[in-house]
Amino acid sequence: MLRKLVAAAAAVSLFGALTACGSGDSSGAADDTITMGFAQVGAESGWRTANTKSVQEAAERAGIELKFSDAQQKQENQIKAIRSFVQQRVDVIAFSPVVETGWDTVLLEAQRAGIPVILTDRSIDSDDTSLYETFLGSDFVEEGRKAGAWLVEESQGESSVNVVELEGTTGAAPAIDRHTGFAEAIAGSNIEIIASQTGDFTRSGGKQVMEAFLKAHDDIDVVYSHNDDMGLGAIEAIEAAGLTPGEDIKLITVDAVKDGMQALADGRINFIVECNPLLGDQLMELAKKVVAGEEVPERVVVEETTFTQEQAAEVLPDRKY
Ligand code: AHR
Repeated sequence: MLRKLVAAAAAVSLFGALTACGSGDSSGAADDTITMGFAQVGAESGWRTANTKSVQEAAERAGIELKFSDAQQKQENQIKAIRSFVQQRVDVIAFSPVVETGWDTVLLEAQRAGIPVILTDRSIDSDDTSLYETFLGSDFVEEGRKAGAWLVEESQGESSVNVVELEGTTGAAPAIDRHTGFAEAIAGSNIEIIASQTGDFTRSGGKQVMEAFLKAHDDIDVVYSHNDDMGLGAIEAIEAAGLTPGEDIKLITVDAVKDGMQALADGRINFIVECNPLLGDQLMELAKKVVAGEEVPERVVVEETTFTQEQAAEVLPDRKY
């Protein structure tokens, strides 16, 4: 982190003229308002909608001017948005990377312009950790482990359990990590992943992939879906095939958004691992510190829990998202 502070100080002195009017004030007058460029993944899921709302509302509460961009799940759009934030000389850039790799060039451009970057929700896969100040988000591997551990416990006494996996966006951190954690937890058990395909974190994607799985396999015991939305799509496909979700085929999903929790309470999903989208306030706090040149932790992990059907019924009335 010290290395990052030194790099940031060098960038500030080199690009002092640029950052002095970082809030877009071309008159050169002092303006304390922090401007944040936020490059969101898209609007693919209930989780994402809740995350966007949390960021927008928190920015308003914190008095931070937010420049918001929706990448429609395309990396090239996010890169364009980041470049545009650099050109507009925002004070800080925050983004949730669509995929893990391919960010070094554009983040180097931000670094050279003296604009700090915060990763939120998803991380990147780069050897150069000086490209960002901190990463605020969930432990996706742990989420996968929780899903797998529940199934191992549930499957005691079964001779074999066949799982189909609905993966998130190919190359995205939550898709990679949720698979890794789940595979780790079921290793050496009677559980086998018999098919795995991306549904791109969307309800329609989950439905389509599940329809194909049902055509190709007549021995599916469990669906492990990397998010609620794909799981909800899979439920539609299972019902259309004349089967009962939650009974004939069990479902484990990740997120715990309202629609998912309702399906869990109704018995159509069997277990949900929470992934908390309400990152806005923590993000704004980190942004203020980073802009002020204060030290921040390299990693801020969000605390999360899991829900059974009974627990979902209890907490649903007060669920915020
Ligand atoms: O990065 C978080 C994941 O992205 C959520 O689990 C999923 O619903 C979203 O699309």
